[in-house]
Amino acid sequence: MTIEIPGPKARAILERGIPLFHNGLRYSQEIEEASRRGFRAAGQVMVGRAKGDYIWDVDDNKFIDFQNGWATNPIGNAHPEIIEAVHQAHLKYGFHYDHPLRYELAEKLAQIMPNKALPRFSYEISGTEAAEAAIYMAMCYKRRRHIITFGSSYHGNSIATKVASGSNPHFKKYLEGWVGGTICAPYPYSDHIPADMNQQQYTEYCLWYLDNHIPNCIASRDNIAAIIVEPGLAEGGNWIPDKSFLQGIRAICDKNDWLMIADEVLTGLGRTGKMWAVEHYDVVPDILVVGKNLSGGIEACAGVAARDEILGNNPDYSASSTFAGTPAGCAAGLKMLEIYERDDVLAHATKLSQIAKEIMTPWQSKYEIVRQVRMSGLLLGVSFQCPESKKDDENWWYSRAVRSEMLKNGVWAICNREENIRMYPALNMAEKTFREGLEIMEKSIALIEREGQSVGNSPAWPTGDAGF
Ligand SMILES: Cc1ncc(COP(=O)(O)O)c(C=O)c1O
Repeated sequence: MTIEIPGPKARAILERGIPLFHNGLRYSQEIEEASRRGFRAAGQVMVGRAKGDYIWDVDDNKFIDFQNGWATNPIGNAHPEIIEAVHQAHLKYGFHYDHPLRYELAEKLAQIMPNKALPRFSYEISGTEAAEAAIYMAMCYKRRRHIITFGSSYHGNSIATKVASGSNPHFKKYLEGWVGGTICAPYPYSDHIPADMNQQQYTEYCLWYLDNHIPNCIASRDNIAAIIVEPGLAEGGNWIPDKSFLQGIRAICDKNDWLMIADEVLTGLGRTGKMWAVEHYDVVPDILVVGKNLSGGIEACAGVAARDEILGNNPDYSASSTFAGTPAGCAAGLKMLEIYERDDVLAHATKLSQIAKEIMTPWQSKYEIVRQVRMSGLLLGVSFQCPESKKDDENWWYSRAVRSEMLKNGVWAICNREENIRMYPALNMAEKTFREGLEIMEKSIALIEREGQSVGNSPAWPTGDAGF
């Protein structure tokens, strides 16, 4: 039996949002536009409860959770030990800014930073704030105006991080006047690389652009503070860079006296099977941005780690906000790191990643609609394409159709941009559940490949980008 998304209870709750939330006044219009484009059900999941590897929606449908609170529940949903640690911190401290846990967590983080080279930490609440703080930290330290960022990147939703992100032009609408010192360079991995270039040539071109085009044509070499890069382009579609790209960036930063900022908000703390994604590349950044997993999936906590002198002697820099480094947030981070160590969570994630490789890699040759399968640890991405015989269909239809089919069969994944499905299973997901989720995904791919659009369009709901 397939699941109806949204079910009656979820639909009733979503309807309550129409007078309350963004774009409510456009609701019918968007539904109509979505159906006209042939959208399959957007499938907004209204979570009723969550536990371990699963969530249940308010209609009591059960899903294997590959969505993971946008990659924010590293050891599964509602982990009882983290909830208990957070509860105890609430009981003991309530809310105050200065408390011992913020020191304790900063000490722990200093120990696990790449090469132990980033011993100083500045707390923030969200990944957005932390990425923004990292950029400002670099500018103040270098006393320079420009920052280099990448196309298809995502660093957050504040004005500064929207400007720094390259994810899509609509995202920065009306902010053209705020671009200021941000220079957006091409990122060599995406669905769209220039015709007649192979991946290696394009990567070399992108490095050339950083080291030659920008300083010769856009901003002077000695007025560039830093390059901010995601060592795994997460929101942009789970793309995994080659070693040559990140090592090339490190070398260019060293040569030009620029800082390298790694935004590890999504890739950090084990998502790629190592504590930090940069460790796959033997690269140590000067500044590293942390968020998401640091919350342990329970209580917001984020921040910026930096080399000793960058944060230790930077009088122009100031950031942070009232709720940065709360007792509860730090307690969540501390308990999560304790469990990582106790249960060897990264080893388990690496094992699951190996299973994913064995199961998913063959999809590229087995299914015409699968363009590429990518993974780094449990950062899993699949790009879809229209089969040769049906060139009039759009590639994005296939990713959304597969994601929708998965949902109907009890697996929740993300498909919110371009032609990709992204998945972020918990790092400690049970092997059986993980295999079951991938099996359902493969069946969904096979069905959409076989039946194409004749699978039929479910009513579009609730529209828009379709598919959180
Ligand atoms: C690489 C990266 N940086 C920053 C952010 C923003 O984090 P937050 O949504 O917690 O503000 C995200 C969110 O997805 C991200 O993936």
